[in-house]
Amino acid sequence: MAVEQTFVIIKPEAVARRLVGEILGRFERKGLCIKRLGVTQIQGQVAQEHYAHHADKPFFPHLIQAMTAGPVVLAVLEGDDAVAQVRNLVGATDPVQAAPGTIRGDFAMRLPYNMVHAADSPDNAQVEIARFFG
Ligand code: CMP
Repeated sequence: MAVEQTFVIIKPEAVARRLVGEILGRFERKGLCIKRLGVTQIQGQVAQEHYAHHADKPFFPHLIQAMTAGPVVLAVLEGDDAVAQVRNLVGATDPVQAAPGTIRGDFAMRLPYNMVHAADSPDNAQVEIARFFG
């Protein structure tokens, strides 16, 4: 067990549905500490950089459109094994596969609208924190 930081984006559809408090509350109730928090609207170039590993996928244009459609909330969360803990709380990528009780399982219906992005490793979390918080 190691104290880690992870990075999440509460996506435009979740902000539009006023789910920010619900989602941050789940992270806090689990025991994670909010270290940084921000609201922004992601520019297309930043979204393309963030999702560059999906650039060849057919859903890429739709994903970029969805991520830039409105304000997002950015958060750095800290705690024991924070990367895995947060990904467990968020649930499977596809809302159809996400278990009830997870954020995506409870609030999302279809891709790409899965409510939250969560970093997949401590190293990627640091890259993403630098990308979005500077
Ligand atoms: P995220 O965890 O932010 O990482 C990549 C995103 O791409 C993912 O959440 C979804 O929003 C989106 N995504 C992944 N697979 C698909 C797919 N098959 N169709 C549409 N969007 C997808």
